[in-house]
Order: sequence, then structure tokens, then C-alpha cells
Amino acid sequence: MNDFVSGFWGYYIGTISVLGIVFCLWLLWVQRKYLGKATLKVDDTGHVWDGNLRELNHPVPRWWTIMFVGCCAFGVIYLILYPGLGTWPGLLGTNSRVEVKQEQEAQEAAVAPIYAKYAKMSIPEIAADPAARVIGQRLFLNNCAQCHGSDAKGAPSFPNLIEGDSIYGRDPEAIIATITAGRNGIMPPFKGAIDAKTAGDIAQYVRSMSGLAADQIRIVNGKREYMNTCAACHGPEGKGNKALGAPNLTDDVWLYGSSEATIVEGILNGRNNRMPAQAGILTPEQIRMVAAFVWSLSGGKDVTSSVLNSAAPK
Ligand code: HEC
Ligand code: HEC
Repeated sequence: MNDFVSGFWGYYIGTISVLGIVFCLWLLWVQRKYLGKATLKVDDTGHVWDGNLRELNHPVPRWWTIMFVGCCAFGVIYLILYPGLGTWPGLLGTNSRVEVKQEQEAQEAAVAPIYAKYAKMSIPEIAADPAARVIGQRLFLNNCAQCHGSDAKGAPSFPNLIEGDSIYGRDPEAIIATITAGRNGIMPPFKGAIDAKTAGDIAQYVRSMSGLAADQIRIVNGKREYMNTCAACHGPEGKGNKALGAPNLTDDVWLYGSSEATIVEGILNGRNNRMPAQAGILTPEQIRMVAAFVWSLSGGKDVTSSVLNSAAPK
């Protein structure tokens, strides 16, 4: 087997291999009069250098001939047993893909009893188990830390999983749903509908909702525009909407940043943020383990979850 779409390169390489072996054996055959005859009269090529240095033509030693034929035989046997000739898998039928799959299956079978133990436990029970936490942490470091950070505190556009309240919720079901199917938070761009100055006023109002310094005159206009355009998703009080993935704007926790320029940029150009689904990467058992780990990081609760869950449409 080979990794190419068509078998062409497999046959190309196989043909070169076979021709190489045939050529080596042919070479040996045409040179056979020199083989193994220790008594053969040494030919003198007639070339002489530096007065008395003569070039001779010795027969090759017997050990060399045996090694040469042995190498050719090894090549032929190898090509018969292992893949090497086009798409033919060889008599042993081995290939690295099958081997890796076998190793993976053996590995999964070996860890299955460990996961089976946790399958019957609830997320809070798993989170309280020290051995499960270690497994969850390793899964997190291998699959999530590249985006959420090894301390799970996130980075611009990648949510902090520990502090502040979360976009989609910190109850076990929400975390499992996020990890399994992924998330795609979309805020539409308002470039055509809102001019840059008005966007600045709204940004001032958004800052004031988190208690940050804001221009008291501009927030009057900003609040009016916010109620018209933004409240539908972020809520009249700015508490967000978990079902839409619209963040809470009152908690001074920022996915992108709290400066007027950053907020204006988001208003004018919109936001499109994607968390990739892990369903094809992690097994459902692994997702439960890493979900329990993430859930335990925030102390197992959402700071303002009671407020938000009552505000979000079910
Ligand atoms: C390629 C980057 C990437 C990887 C890998 C990734 N995430 Fe995410 N994650 C994101 C982004 C971006 C969001 C925000 C999505 C949005 O705004 O709609 C997010 C959102 C989340 C949320 C919801 C946060 C909230 O505030 O509600 C959780 C929980 C989460 N991720 C956990 C995980 C876990 C656990 C893993 C590993 C199994 C993981 N993520 C892997 C990028 C990633
Ligand atoms: C259709 C729903 C929708 C509307 C309308 C909307 N937003 Fe958003 N907004 C979102 C979503 C969803 C996100 C999260 C995007 C992401 O996951 O990255 C977001 C993100 C934001 C953020 C980033 C928050 C942070 O933590 O950095 C700000 C600020 C914001 N919106 C302000 C506004 C303002 C101001 C308006 C009105 C001009 C508005 N939004 C209108 C859905 C909406």
C-alpha cells in the first residue's frame, strides 16, 4: 500500500527497485569469469605509472560475491514479504497504517477500563477524583491549551475558562456541549448602519457598563443607540445571552479588549469566533474527563449564572 491517491508512484518505485536488482545480477553474470577463481591469472591492464606502478585486474573475493548475491536475494525476499511493488501489500500484508491502527486499538483497549470507571460518575464526582483530574489536565494540555492557554486563562478572542462569567455557561452540560460540537459566536458588522462617531459613543456606554472610565456626555447618545441596536443580543442591562453566545458586557471581562478603539472595531466589522468541535478528535469518555477538569477550574460555578440563565431564552 502507499499513501498516494493513484498507484502510479508505487509502481514507479517498484519498477526501479526490481530493475535495480536485475541490473546487479546481470552485472555479476557478465563478470562471472572473474568470480571466485583464486587461481585465475591476474590480468595486467598494461597501464603503468611512475615507472613501475602497474594496474592489475584482480578477481573479486569469494566473500564479496556471496555478500553481493545475498543482498540481491534479501531485496527479492523483502519485496515478496513486505509492501514495495505498487499497491501489492506483500505476503505478510503489513503496512504502517495497519500497524498504527493496531497500536491505537491496543492503547484504547488498555485505557477502556479506566474510562469505564468514570462513565458511571457525574461530572462533579469526576472533578473530585484526583486521578481523573490528572487525566483531564493532560487532555486539556494536549488538546485545548494551544488556544485557551496552559493556565486556561485564554488570550484575545480565546475565552478565559476560569474567571469572570462564561459566554455559553459553566454548568457541566454546557461545557460538554461546547467541547463536543464546538461553538461559533457571530456578531454581525454594523459598518453601514452605524457611523464611526456613533460607534465611539456606544463604546463609551459599553465601557461605563463595566464601571470603566467613560465620557459622561457621549454615553447618553451611546445608551440610546445601544438600546436600539445591541440590546437584542446583549440584553438591555448588558448581561449577555448564552443561547446566542453574546457575552456579558458588564463584568469587565473582555474577549477582545476594553479600549474604545477595540470595541468600535468590533461594532463596525463584527466578530466571528470559532471553537472547533472535538467530537472527532476526542472520544465521548475523554470529553467528559476534560469537561470535568474545566468545570473544576472555575470552582464548578458561573459567577453570575443565576442572573444569566434566567435572562437567556431556554
Ligand atoms: C483552535 C482553538 C481552540 C481549541 C483547540 C479549543 N478551543 Fe475552546 N474555544 C475557542 C474559541 C475561539 C472559543 C470561543 C467561541 C465563541 O466565541 O463562540 C472557545 C470556547 C470554549 C468554551 C466556552 C467558553 C465560554 O466562555 O463559555 C469552553 C468551555 C471551551 N472552549 C473549552 C475547550 C476545551 C475543553 C478544549 C479542548 C478539548 C478547547 N476548548 C479547545 C477556541 C478553541
Ligand atoms: C446578533 C447578535 C448581536 C448583536 C446585535 C450585537 N452583538 Fe455584540 N456580540 C455578539 C456575539 C455573539 C459576540 C461574541 C463574539 C465572539 O464570540 O467572539 C459579541 C461580542 C461583542 C463584544 C466583545 C465582548 C468582549 O468580551 O470583548 C462587544 C464589546 C460587543 N459585542 C458589543 C456590541 C455592541 C456595542 C453592539 C451594538 C452595536 C452589539 N455588540 C450588537 C452578538 C451581537
